[in-house]
Amino acid sequence: MSCRPSRQGVVVVVIGVAILVVIFQFLQDAKNIDEADASETKAKDSTTATVASSLPLSKNTSSSTIDFSWRKSSRLPNWMKDYFDWHVQERARLDANPLEWESFRFLVMRCYKGDNCGGTADRLKSLPLLVLLAAESKRLLLLKWGNPFDLEEFLMPHELNWTVPSEMRHVLASSTVPRRKPPTTVQKLEKFLYANHTIVGAKLQIPSAFYDTDKWKQSPLTTSITSTRTQSTVTNSDEDSRMLFHDLWKILFQPSAPVAEMIQHELKAISSTLNIQLTPGTYIAAHLRAKYPGEPYRDAQERNNPEKEQILQHEVTQALQCASHLKPKVPIYFAADATQATEFVQQQYHHPTNKRHIATLQSQRASEVHLAFAKLDDPTGYFPIFVDLWILGNADCVSYGRGGFGQLASLMSYNASCQQIRSRSSCEWKD
Ligand SMILES: *[C@@H]1O[C@H](CO)[C@@H](O)[C@H](O)[C@H]1NC(C)=O
Ligand SMILES: *[C@@H]1O[C@H](CO)[C@@H](O)[C@H](O)[C@H]1NC(C)=O
Ligand SMILES: *[C@@H]1O[C@H](CO)[C@@H](O)[C@H](O)[C@H]1NC(C)=O
Ligand SMILES: *[C@@H]1O[C@H](CO)[C@@H](O)[C@H](O)[C@H]1NC(C)=O
Repeated sequence: MSCRPSRQGVVVVVIGVAILVVIFQFLQDAKNIDEADASETKAKDSTTATVASSLPLSKNTSSSTIDFSWRKSSRLPNWMKDYFDWHVQERARLDANPLEWESFRFLVMRCYKGDNCGGTADRLKSLPLLVLLAAESKRLLLLKWGNPFDLEEFLMPHELNWTVPSEMRHVLASSTVPRRKPPTTVQKLEKFLYANHTIVGAKLQIPSAFYDTDKWKQSPLTTSITSTRTQSTVTNSDEDSRMLFHDLWKILFQPSAPVAEMIQHELKAISSTLNIQLTPGTYIAAHLRAKYPGEPYRDAQERNNPEKEQILQHEVTQALQCASHLKPKVPIYFAADATQATEFVQQQYHHPTNKRHIATLQSQRASEVHLAFAKLDDPTGYFPIFVDLWILGNADCVSYGRGGFGQLASLMSYNASCQQIRSRSSCEWKD
């Protein structure tokens, strides 16, 4: 004990970046990370973001009376529900004594300027694993982005408050974080988690294949969820494990006020153009990542192929025709990373007499920007990403091809098992 250096009573160790790449040999998505992104340009202060005030959480910190949605969830394992209960209590205790934050333990999912965190899906698909690690190490899970902007610009806490308390922000500002050689394995991260560090920062990416049916079944997360040590009563079926993401997402997030407004605006525009309501869980969705490296449209564009428009139109048509097999009759929401694609859908498919309606972003351009690469000065430029994500993710079933974004939407959707991972095969249209 005597060899422990004690500075100011408390030793706060902020571990720079814990990159926890659960490596199965599938690293396509990790390639999204641009090395150039590591430059610390755009020093806009990210800690000044407005944090909306009216959340459905009751002011009464006696949480036992609040009907948190996880208590009714049939999909979430008990250990996760217990962790959420604990998180609410700890957070209330922290909020009552914010200056004593150093006596708490935190796991912070971080993405600061200078961190290579990848795109939207790269960052958020790992949430179940973070919750698991936080639960196992009894740490309060907080989410902190500064790259490109605060996460709260896009998504707000819903039932669980993961926003960093202002009393801690100076410690979690990227400029004060020592750059350390990051642990690169679960085992190394776990050493920090179980040590007496106040804050452990984690930047965690899991490859797409992690959630693909069979891989997910064998993944460390599912194994932990279903293992007896966590005394989970959730059934061990693959479907339940995949489905927990939907409930977890709703517990953690709601759209920020301006994003929510845009979503409402789009849904209204869709409803007035097509005369349909995209009620959550009642429609299906198709996502096309036309500009993913290696995709025909991207290649055609790069080579300035005059037929690139036709190539894109073929991709869109195939995406929709394949998606139509997921479920008969219900409307399809289509999203892509190219405005030409959504414009084509609007010209080609927007007939109120169609047996099946196909909706797209109506009053704005497609979400062409990429969270990691776009380098915009203003968070509003990224809003379409979250509008699309929200509408895609509220579908019952999602069809997607390359890229993690469609997969994230599928995990968020009402039935993650009702998914379609499109390959090059061609499909006929089904009404
Ligand atoms: C909070 O809820 C508890 C339990 O129902 C109740 O006793 C207490 O009066 C409430 N406090 C406030 C401030 O409403
Ligand atoms: C862990 O840190 C707390 C304060 O942050 C301290 O009171 C406690 O003694 C430490 N435990 C060990 C084993 O060092
Ligand atoms: C969540 O925490 C932040 C930071 O402490 C605080 O500003 C916000 O009001 C909290 N939200 C709720 C719903 O309690
Ligand atoms: C989810 O989708 C799968 C595959 O389409 C289907 O077999 C299952 O019945 C669906 N579950 C629910 C609850 O709708």
